[in-house]
Amino acid sequence: MTHADPAPLAALSSRSLKGRLRVPGDKSISHRALMLGALAAGRTRIRGLLEAEDVVNTARAVTALGAPARKDGDVWEVLGRGVGGLAQPDGPIDFGNSGTGTRLMMGVIAPHDITVSMVGDASLSKRPMGRVLGPLKQMGLEVEGDRDRLPLTIRGTSRLVPITYALPVPSAQLKSAILLAGLGAAGETTVIEREATRDHTERMLRHFGAEVTTVQRDGATHITITGDAELEGREVTVPGDPSSAAFLVAAALIVPGSDITIQGVLVNPTRTGFYTTLQEMGGDVTLLDQREEGGEPVADIRVRCAELSGGAVPAERAPSMIDEYPMLAVVAAFARGATRMDGLAELKVKESDRLAATAAGLAANGVRAEAAGDTLVVHGEGRVTGGGLVATHLDHRIAMSFLVMGLASAAPVTVDDTAMIATSFPEFRSLMEQIGAQFGGGGA
Ligand code: S3P
Repeated sequence: MTHADPAPLAALSSRSLKGRLRVPGDKSISHRALMLGALAAGRTRIRGLLEAEDVVNTARAVTALGAPARKDGDVWEVLGRGVGGLAQPDGPIDFGNSGTGTRLMMGVIAPHDITVSMVGDASLSKRPMGRVLGPLKQMGLEVEGDRDRLPLTIRGTSRLVPITYALPVPSAQLKSAILLAGLGAAGETTVIEREATRDHTERMLRHFGAEVTTVQRDGATHITITGDAELEGREVTVPGDPSSAAFLVAAALIVPGSDITIQGVLVNPTRTGFYTTLQEMGGDVTLLDQREEGGEPVADIRVRCAELSGGAVPAERAPSMIDEYPMLAVVAAFARGATRMDGLAELKVKESDRLAATAAGLAANGVRAEAAGDTLVVHGEGRVTGGGLVATHLDHRIAMSFLVMGLASAAPVTVDDTAMIATSFPEFRSLMEQIGAQFGGGGA
């Protein structure tokens, strides 16, 4: 999918935000449900799948590999081919803007005797793939021309060998790609992680019948999958995405008089660092009716506008809120005092260099902030001047974070392009407007 024309938009100072609402399904879980559905024997039915461009590209990818994914009423169905059963696609597969789709599919493809060309947009084509291809090559995957950026062509093999691999970076995508490849390897594949990253792959692999064990040893988690696995089609329910809910929660915290409740949000502890941080900063954020749905913890989240003070986010918390730093940086600008965020190295290799893009967006709107090394410090003054134009660099989360800023800043905030929001959260504007947010101008 290409986005030829940028679509700028301004966010305007809004009256209090009010209402009860739901957010669309979790992006990470949606990708995994389609992929495991394709690798399982028989039919998988998915409720609440996120219908955003990134996930639609994954649905097209599994379809191109011989496991058709299609919508039937409000349920998505995947006709799985079993581990080892995927087929040679007719042409290149386009992953659009999605790092998760690309990297996890490398693991899905690895145990198959097929050759697949993978392409993506300008943002995805700049992102590092070597981190995933390295261990997959150890297992037997071949990469044409030894490239480490898209576009690239990979050749899998049904004779994949298992490995033990210590993650050099805390990345759930990397962990997941190796575990997915391990499904088709002859023996046990182990991934060792020092910092906990989101564990949706492990949970869902077990749900589909794979043998996955998790052991703590010497301060690290050893995750082992048994190869030559047979998965069976399952029912999957996708909870609301906490990374999308984060924009609504942040908006309600900073727009005076707001009070909203978001129902059915995933609160897996590997994803809730943003919410913990907001509570530490004095945010009135409550998780209500905590329950389990489809093997994942969910809750309703109530947020009321509150006075916020600066805080410190330790580096170890980064993996549990890695996608929420741009939003947190904006919230920190409305707090009183400095907020220091450490351990942000991974932020530089997202859909954009989010550390640089966030710092630039803050500066453009009169917020004092310093980005140095892997640290960002935002000097909050309880109010934001706004009035700036923010460069989004094909990054959906930069666009949404700075639109939220404009709902509470003195002057409107304009983002140069909203087209990429459709990659993860197409309903962003309409849900925001439903609770009272105001947008306008900017040409859109
Ligand atoms: C994801 C993992 C994270 C995150 C991304 C989704 C996943 O990426 O930023 O949005 O679904 O596994 P990394 O693995 O690169 O940290």
